Amino acid sequence: MGDFSITITFISFILLFLTRYHQLVHADPPTLVPPYSCDTSNPRTKLFPFCNLNLTITQRAKDIVSRLTLDEKVSQLVNTAPAIPRLDIPSYQWWNEALHGVSYVGMGIILNGSIPAATSFPQVILTAASFDPKLWYQISKVIGTEARGVYNAGQAQGMNFWAPNINIFRDPRWGRGQETAGEDPLVNSKYGVSYVRGLQGDSFEGGKLIGGRLKASACCKHFTAYDLENWKGVNRYVFDAKVTLQDLADTYQPSFHSCVVQGRSSGIMCAYNRVNGVPNCADYNLLTNTARKKWNFNGYIASDCDAVRFIYEKQGYAKTPEDVVADVLRAGMDLECGNYMTKHAKSAVLQKKIPISQIDRALHNLFTIRIRLGLFDGNPTKLQYGRIGPNQVCSKENLDLALEAARSGIVLLKNTASILPLPRVNTLGVIGPNANKSSIVLLGNYIGPPCKNVSILKGFYTYASQTHYHSGCTDGTKCASAEIDRAVEVAKISDYVILVMGLDQSQETETLDRDHLELPGKQQKLINSVAKASKKPVILVLLCGGPVDITFAKNNDKIGGIIWAGYPGELGGRALAQVVFGDYNPGLFSSMLYPLTNKQT
Ligand SMILES: *[C@@H]1O[C@H](CO)[C@@H](O)[C@H](O)[C@H]1NC(C)=O
Ligand SMILES: *[C@@H]1O[C@H](CO)[C@@H](O)[C@H](O)[C@H]1NC(C)=O
Ligand SMILES: *[C@@H]1O[C@H](CO)[C@@H](O)[C@H](O)[C@H]1NC(C)=O
Ligand SMILES: *[C@@H]1O[C@H](CO)[C@@H](O)[C@H](O)[C@H]1NC(C)=O
Repeated sequence: MGDFSITITFISFILLFLTRYHQLVHADPPTLVPPYSCDTSNPRTKLFPFCNLNLTITQRAKDIVSRLTLDEKVSQLVNTAPAIPRLDIPSYQWWNEALHGVSYVGMGIILNGSIPAATSFPQVILTAASFDPKLWYQISKVIGTEARGVYNAGQAQGMNFWAPNINIFRDPRWGRGQETAGEDPLVNSKYGVSYVRGLQGDSFEGGKLIGGRLKASACCKHFTAYDLENWKGVNRYVFDAKVTLQDLADTYQPSFHSCVVQGRSSGIMCAYNRVNGVPNCADYNLLTNTARKKWNFNGYIASDCDAVRFIYEKQGYAKTPEDVVADVLRAGMDLECGNYMTKHAKSAVLQKKIPISQIDRALHNLFTIRIRLGLFDGNPTKLQYGRIGPNQVCSKENLDLALEAARSGIVLLKNTASILPLPRVNTLGVIGPNANKSSIVLLGNYIGPPCKNVSILKGFYTYASQTHYHSGCTDGTKCASAEIDRAVEVAKISDYVILVMGLDQSQETETLDRDHLELPGKQQKLINSVAKASKKPVILVLLCGGPVDITFAKNNDKIGGIIWAGYPGELGGRALAQVVFGDYNPGLFSSMLYPLTNKQT
């Protein structure tokens, strides 16, 4: 197959589900309303040493923990941490997402209000194909800025983001491969470091976080050896990855090591799966010996959502819920995404399964992060990142960067007929299930509402006097049913034809792996039929995150050009058109690999 990583119909019911879901979970008011924690206008602030900016962050965190009752302590061990009114400590939401832009997936971000959208950068697998760490850094710097803008507008209940995903995309069928920088440990390491530094407010070179202060908190996930959703009845919640120590060291750990040591990430998430029999979130050797002791990790460790419960309910690893709680805390996990701690941590303490010192350790790590984020420093609008306003979200600069990222990532795979770039044409045929999908298709997963909607088709309009469009498949990328004859008619009346094919989130996503690498359904038949009927060799554009076997297209002379465009983000339609029509050259790197004039076999 083609030696490259290739990769959305974000089906509307998923969208509908997310929208509904978010209406349900955003019940609490945002945290950014007066009185602020440790506000100087509040006379009680003087009573709390944790509000004293003259003390170290460690002293302040220690002070908070020392004041909490057992019930209060237990309440803070989960992602939805309630307020502690007697100490003027507000509620906090740890679960927010920002894989390639501030997202509404997670529970603390509300993109409804003075900020209704955020810049949606290309899905990571495409941005990774730029092989440009500076670009990766600039993107996450913008994400951090937009996140603070959303927070300052009172639309965020937390500044912790559960990104980047630096798992190794080893199994090409993995539904979440699109979220990663690919299969290479080195690229994933560099990607992770750039992302963490940009998001957290560090410099590109690192080491510039003043006083350990954080613009936003990154979280490298999922620790470790995770690249399976659901395979023949074995799902990620129970999967036991058998990994040799050497493979662990060579393949799976380097990106996490870099994330901690070079990136200085303030967060790590332990994965659902087990490694050699031990659940990741209950693995003392992984979380404490490796991350904290060997790598000097000083942030917080969160579980993937409901992973703690699954260790008991699905993996049967411990005898009672209290044993699970004790296992994960003792292993070094600090925060549970879920509510098992709320239910069982107190009884675990009372049954003496876990000493209170382990809970204090977890709380210390958690409050340290909140203090580092400046959330116990009084009125946040007066602080370092307090002046970032809504005008810095979806700004022209940010959108230009999204466009640049898409253009830099797009890869030219074949140009045997030297057909690319195309000239301006009279009639352009645009065919395929991904051509006129709402722009949501271009975003991948872990998305938020984009600032702009540009479909692929719309991107092409400016380059042709007349555009003929046909979806080819009647059921999206699944393409179980195709209208090949009608697509062929479109091809016959067009000077040039562009086929916009590939996958979307109905074919590859979280909880959904593929079981083969071919294009789904009748896509291949459609492509070959259209190519055969076209006046000139056609251009095949693939939108997908995981690799697709296109040997048939490589060997078909009537397919003159092949372009991989991942999931190119909200301006992906524009980027692709600029690349196809020569307004932008995706770079010497890709043209060195596939010279424009090279007659390939
Ligand atoms: C912090 O230190 C400054 C300078 O030493 C002092 O003026 C101030 O009163 C101190 N603040 C608190 C709350 O102790
Ligand atoms: C957005 O906010 C408005 C006003 O608070 C509310 O009526 C509407 O239902 C919200 N929409 C969503 C999608 O949450
Ligand atoms: C493309 O999709 C949009 C939105 O679904 C629709 O309004 C438009 O008519 C479609 N364009 C064509 C040429 O079919
Ligand atoms: C983009 O399209 C979505 C869904 O079709 C719509 O809800 C949203 O308001 C649009 N955004 C813009 C900026 O036009």
